[in-house]
Amino acid sequence: MYSLITKIGALAVASLATQATAMPSNNQPDPFSNASWPLPHPVTGASNPGANNSYDGWGGVHLHDPSIVMGPDGHYYSFSTHGLVVISRASYPNSLDGYWEPIGSVLEGSSIINNTGSTDPWAPDVHKVGDTYYCYYAVSQFGSQFSSIGLATSKTLRPGSWTDHGAVITSNTTAPTPLNITNAIDANLFIDPKTKIPYLTYGSFWSDIWQFQLAQDLLSVVSSPAPTQLSLDPVSPQAEEGPYLSRHDSWYYLWYSHGSCCGYNVAALPAPGQEYSIRVGRSRSATGPFVDRNGIDLRNGGGYIVYGSHDRVYGPGGQAVLANYHGRDVLYYHYVDTVQNPQYLDELKLLGWNYINYIQGWPVLVYN
Ligand SMILES: *[C@@H]1O[C@H](CO)[C@@H](O)[C@H](O)[C@H]1NC(C)=O
Ligand SMILES: *[C@@H]1O[C@H](CO)[C@@H](O)[C@H](O)[C@H]1NC(C)=O
Ligand SMILES: *[C@@H]1O[C@H](CO)[C@@H](O)[C@H](O)[C@H]1NC(C)=O
Ligand SMILES: *[C@@H]1O[C@H](CO)[C@@H](O)[C@H](O)[C@H]1NC(C)=O
Ligand SMILES: *[C@@H]1O[C@H](CO)[C@@H](O)[C@H](O)[C@H]1NC(C)=O
Repeated sequence: MYSLITKIGALAVASLATQATAMPSNNQPDPFSNASWPLPHPVTGASNPGANNSYDGWGGVHLHDPSIVMGPDGHYYSFSTHGLVVISRASYPNSLDGYWEPIGSVLEGSSIINNTGSTDPWAPDVHKVGDTYYCYYAVSQFGSQFSSIGLATSKTLRPGSWTDHGAVITSNTTAPTPLNITNAIDANLFIDPKTKIPYLTYGSFWSDIWQFQLAQDLLSVVSSPAPTQLSLDPVSPQAEEGPYLSRHDSWYYLWYSHGSCCGYNVAALPAPGQEYSIRVGRSRSATGPFVDRNGIDLRNGGGYIVYGSHDRVYGPGGQAVLANYHGRDVLYYHYVDTVQNPQYLDELKLLGWNYINYIQGWPVLVYN
């Protein structure tokens, strides 16, 4: 099954590549252009936007910054912003389509939540390593650089099973560099399959995307080798965040969200292109340098837009890769469905996903 799908995927890639080369004569759309962006796969689930931070106000299909992993029962689970890191479960095994239901939270309150003055953890990143689920989460406040990335672990991923280990890194103006010039939110754990070295990639505005090497127990960062910058938009306000590392063939991909994530006012939307979009660069190493399709280093403002506003989709971001979904890679994210949510409300942002094809080593999103 796996190799069959891989073959079909390869054929699809080959035919798209042929179209790309033949583009001027047969008028096929460039597979890299926004004209080729697919619609998200539809998902079903609970919709219960709440007025407080309880889990049942968030999750289901209406979420921000999803992180999806396979649970021990063969169902996918999503972890997302708000609701003390709300956990949602997909009702059908081995399917992203739904019905997604919130089932509880990772945290019951946290020692580091109080320290930052926040009670609302954001942007979880969950991975199974060995027999343990690791959930990195962020505590901060909007527009503040006084932030922490915390870690909770569980053997089962169920609500009530998590042990909170507190802060892994903390940023503020008096922290040692680079924590005094960065914002310690939007964590991503990546264990290089080649070297087995674990990395914590993070960042949001304030010097954008940085990477620490993690200790082998994944509970703390090491000071040597020194942390490195992976991406920077030199244009103020350095609107990059939500990094995610993935690997395909011998390439490493750095995905991130560019622009303004939240609080869209339908009567006064950001200037076109200033809202969230999903960008990517690639490298032969997990530590960079990453470049875009024009060869521009991500640290010099490079970044190829792989998915952005189009059709009924507005401001997609908070993305991550799910590898080997029925034999293929998937990119999932949140977005505003402007038909279902004409007011562009944050609490009605929707989970979306697409398959990833790789054309000459560059990812493109496709529907089938
Ligand atoms: C918040 O959510 C909890 C859990 O559903 C509920 O018991 C509580 O009444 C809610 N509080 C408010 C102020 O809505
Ligand atoms: C954090 O704040 C909550 C609510 O104010 C309080 O109940 C809890 O004891 C505090 N935890 C710590 C570790 O200070
Ligand atoms: C600032 O961050 C550093 C670690 O990066 C931490 O040791 C220190 O306690 C933080 N400052 C405050 C006021 O929390
Ligand atoms: C950040 O901290 C380093 C020392 O760790 C210091 O040299 C540098 O000036 C600081 N930068 C800012 C902007 O405070
Ligand atoms: C693609 O981008 C161009 C230039 O930014 C824009 O004019 C056009 O409307 C976009 N097309 C779609 C389908 O979003």
